[in-house]
Parts: sequence; structure tokens; C-alpha cells
Amino acid sequence: MAKILVTGGMGYIGSHTVVELVNSGYEPVIVDDLSNSHPKILEQLTKIIGYKPIFHQVDLCDEKAVANLVATENDIAGIIHFAAFKAVGESVQHPLKYYRNNFYSLINLLNGYYGKSVNFVFSSSCTVYGQPEQLPVTEDAPVQPAQSPYGNTKQVAEEILKDMVASGSNYKVISLRYFNPVGAHESALIGELPIGVPQNLVPFITQTAIGKREKITVFGDTYNTPDGSCIRDYIHVVDLAKAHVSALKLAEKDSFTGYDVFNLGTGKGSSVLEVIAAFEQTTGVKLNYQIGPPRPGDVEQVWGDVTKSSEKLGWKTELGLDVMMSSAWEWEKYINQNPL
Ligand code: NAD
Ligand code: WQD
Repeated sequence: MAKILVTGGMGYIGSHTVVELVNSGYEPVIVDDLSNSHPKILEQLTKIIGYKPIFHQVDLCDEKAVANLVATENDIAGIIHFAAFKAVGESVQHPLKYYRNNFYSLINLLNGYYGKSVNFVFSSSCTVYGQPEQLPVTEDAPVQPAQSPYGNTKQVAEEILKDMVASGSNYKVISLRYFNPVGAHESALIGELPIGVPQNLVPFITQTAIGKREKITVFGDTYNTPDGSCIRDYIHVVDLAKAHVSALKLAEKDSFTGYDVFNLGTGKGSSVLEVIAAFEQTTGVKLNYQIGPPRPGDVEQVWGDVTKSSEKLGWKTELGLDVMMSSAWEWEKYINQNPL
């Protein structure tokens, strides 16, 4: 069984990817400092996959700790690098916190495994496109000046990875630009765990539905879109997780060399009001929502062209907005009754 280092494997997308790696016959090795995840996720993963996965509690910004990790885990075939801070608003308030964590962790990891033949899959984001001129947006669309330090870390990390490949290191690298991951595993044992007030749409919807929040505000209904609210490409986190397995399989091929980048979305946009309607319809729960002013810095509409991903990764999404909503709701109910 090929061992795959999963940094940030206790987090939202990482934990779902651990499950899909096991389903595909890989052995995940989780590395996480638990700065944005809960230690009990390991027990939850154990319940899903049937055994306790290897877990190293390591802060990837700690160079010595990474050197020890590399010495211990010296026979890995690949790395999926999820570990990063991801709150856009917080990155504007505390840019150095974001530059430090997202760059030090990447650099220490690349330095630690330098020279070894390791396939490297990186969590990038559709945030690199800003508001694209053409929709759906393709991978060769221009990267826009970053709107936040967080977005900047994704753009620069992609450049760092390209430079690594160009320098003649043994790394093969695939950057995956996620659109909007939502939903949870069908077991409802893992899902998104926002700390404090959620900034993202779907956790805010489920927390409002369960009564943790009084109401949800739709950030603007006068955009130049069919119903006036913003449009995004929501993707089920399990479909997203499976794409990481496909990326590893592509990188394993002798014919794959160097660096490539792929959009991970459904290829279809949904408006905020459509997401709310889908939630109400799928779950039968009425949402208390109001229309409010636009959120500063929001992109009006973006969805991805996923032709390249489907052709080269041999991957496509299987789960629609209904399953995204129902699984997010099952997870919210579970976590409300079984707090970690
Ligand atoms: P998450 O916060 O749930 O998971 C990230 C994990 O990394 C957490 O468990 C955290 O404890 C860990 N971590 C952070 N810094 C670390 C460090 N220095 N050392 C070790 N572990 C560390 O986030 P997520 O939503 O699962 O996102 C995973 C990746 O995907 C991130 O790189 C994020 O930027 C990217 N991404 C997320 C989204 C999204 O909407 N969730 C969209 C696009 C890209
Ligand atoms: C989705 C839509 C809001 C909350 C963020 C990051 C981006 C990437 C994906 C990491 C928007 C609207 C939201 C609410 C609302 N992450 N909304 N009421 O803004 O597309 O992107 O996640 O790389 O970098 O910025 O996601 O979930 O915050 O918002 O009306 O209470 O929901 O205006 O149109 P977003 P989101």
C-alpha cells in the first residue's frame, strides 16, 4: 500500500480525503497541528475506515519537527498538502499570521522531502481568478491580483511549486483549484467544523436551521445575475476528496512530468437564493433569511470549466446540490447532538 502524507488531514477536506484514500487502497499518514481541527476527528475517522490511521501532531512551521517527521515517514509516495489557514477576512486583519503559516509550512515540507521522488498535490483555490472575464473560467484564465493575503498565499504557493519543478527537483506537482466545497460524508461522522460564527454560506444555513443563529442574511440581491444574488460553483466535499485520488493516480504515471493545475467544481453555478431554496426543499426546514447589503470584496459570479479535469484526471462530480444540502444538514444535526 502506497503511503500518502496528508497534511491538514484532520480538517474538513483533509478528513474526507483520508477516507477516499483508504477506499482506493492507499495508506494515509495524517499530519496536523490541530490548530483548526479537533483531536476526536481521529476517532470519527476510525469509525468510518475501520482502523486508527497514523497521526502525527506536528506544526509544519516548526522546521525541526518537520525534519523529524521526514526521518520517520521516509517511504511516502505522495503528499497532499491541505494544511493552511483559510479565513479570508482574518487574513486581511492578520496578514503575517497567514503568510507565516501558509508559506513556512509549504517551504518546510518541500525542503524536508527535497530530492525524493514524491508526488505533491496542493490545495489551491478559485480565489486566484477573482472575478473572471469569461465564464465558466478555464485554468488558463489570467490570475487576478489577490484580493486578500489568503488569496495571495495561494497564488504565490502555486508559483513556488512551479519553481520547484523547474529547478529539477524530483517533485511532480498538481495544484487543484477548488471552487466552493460543501456537504459532509454520508455517515455524518465528519464534516465542516467552523470555529465561532461561520463566514461561509452553507454552515451559516445549517446553523440557522438548527437554531444556533437567529437568521441568515443574503449578501445582496441586486447583482447582475438572474435572481440578483451571487453565483458560485458548489461542490460536494466527497466528490472533491475523490479528485485528490485521481490527481495522485495521474502523477504516478510515467507520462506525467512537471506541473499541472486543475479546476475542481461541478461546472455549474448556483445563486445564494437557489442554495437556500435547495436546502429548504431537500430538508423540509424553512430558513429564516433576509436580504442585506453586498459583502465587501465579494465576487459577483464564478463557476469553473471542468473539461480539463474530466479529460485528464478522468474524474467528474456525482453529487448534486440536493445531496450537498442534505448531507450538510445531517452533519449539523449529528454534531449538535454529539458535540466533540
Ligand atoms: P481546515 O481548516 O478544516 O483544515 C486545515 C487543517 O490544517 C486543519 O486541521 C488545521 O489544524 C491544519 N493546519 C493548519 N496549519 C497547520 C500547520 N502549520 N501545521 C499542521 N497543520 C496545520 O480547512 P479546509 O477547508 O479543509 O481546507 C483545506 C485546504 O483547502 C486549505 O489549504 C484551504 O486553503 C484550501 N481550500 C479550502 C476551501 C474551502 O472553502 N474550504 C476552498 C479552497 C481551498
Ligand atoms: C458564498 C456566497 C456570499 C454567507 C470563500 C473564500 C474563497 C474560497 C471559497 C478558500 C457568496 C454568500 C455567504 C452568508 C451570504 N475559499 N453568503 N450570506 O465567498 O465564494 O469564497 O470560500 O479558498 O477564497 O473567499 O464563499 O461561502 O463565504 O460565500 O449571502 O451569511 O454566499 O456573498 O456569494 P466565497 P462563502
